[in-house]
Amino acid sequence: MLVLGIETSCDETAASVVRDGRVALSDVISTQMDIHRRWGGVVPELASRNHVLQVMPVIDEALTRAGVTLSALDGLAVTSGPGLQGALLVGLQVAKALSLATGLPLVGVNHLEGHLLAIRLAPEAPEPPFLGLCVSGGHTTLYDVQAYGTYQRLATTRDDAAGEAFDKVARLLGLPYPGGQPIDTLAQQGDPKAINFPRALRGDGVLDWSFSGLKTSVLQHVQLHGVPTGQALADVCASFQEAVADALTKKLVLGAKKVGAKTVVLCGGVAANSRLRTLAQERGSEAGLEVYLPPRRLCTDNGAMIAVAGYEAFKRGVPSGAFLTADAAWRLGGAVHHG
Ligand code: KG4
Ligand code: ZN
Repeated sequence: MLVLGIETSCDETAASVVRDGRVALSDVISTQMDIHRRWGGVVPELASRNHVLQVMPVIDEALTRAGVTLSALDGLAVTSGPGLQGALLVGLQVAKALSLATGLPLVGVNHLEGHLLAIRLAPEAPEPPFLGLCVSGGHTTLYDVQAYGTYQRLATTRDDAAGEAFDKVARLLGLPYPGGQPIDTLAQQGDPKAINFPRALRGDGVLDWSFSGLKTSVLQHVQLHGVPTGQALADVCASFQEAVADALTKKLVLGAKKVGAKTVVLCGGVAANSRLRTLAQERGSEAGLEVYLPPRRLCTDNGAMIAVAGYEAFKRGVPSGAFLTADAAWRLGGAVHHG
């Protein structure tokens, strides 16, 4: 079964053809990073306008690289939330038009479900049940994935998302947007123990995270010592990154213990972070967990993960959505609270 996945929820226009929910025949991403960089973050109106320009060429390219035409496809999948309303609508309208013109069934996919299922494009992928830690620019949530389509939120951030913290701290340090990769790179030369930045919500088995205090702490450090350069900059990056990776992995292991999970999957842009990947492997194996990390390219936004989630939705018999609408605040799964 061939599914075309279309993703326009934020600042990447992406499309991909995936076979049987496992093999990406193409994976085309047009990023708007350079456009938004000069504003220090994503400007919604600019995002929508650029999706309009890019979406058809990106889809054409995805079909060409996969060596197929629309008539060879079996279904269409599009991100219908969460994300920027105007940006989502661009992908959605194109997907609906394609569905109408070709008669292909169409499903709306939750962007976070896409992230959670991205691991299926890796050669070795676990089957549910597993815990999925989704860490992106807008979300930091731990999901209990009992089956595809059945998700429960075990924990989430009470303020900033982990990626948001990377982006805001990068801005404080005068680094380009998005800040995750530049901090990751600089941190490799730094000492993670140089500054003891705070870890919030440490006590009493709380699973939730909080990153705004950490961000304020970096701000105070900069106010006190000035914007660091050279080795001092690398040390701030490494110490900040250590605080984020430490908090994420501690709660991941704690969450797994609480629900008796054996397998954990990381996903979302921040899952590309080298320190987080190492620490998740280390602490996961100490706790007897199997840790799955998608290749970096599959961590950040892409169309292939949307095609995978679409394929699983088709398999579950989710009906074709001729009347799909964008849901900018669509929450995945219900919440459960563990002590
Ligand atoms: O999943 P994603 O591509 O888009 C959203 O759905 O938000 O995630 C983007 C986020 C940004 O905040 C970016 O700074 C962060 O992922 N990111 C990283 C790294 N690469 C991307 N954060 C830490 N380390 C990285 N290597
Ligand atoms: Zn994302």
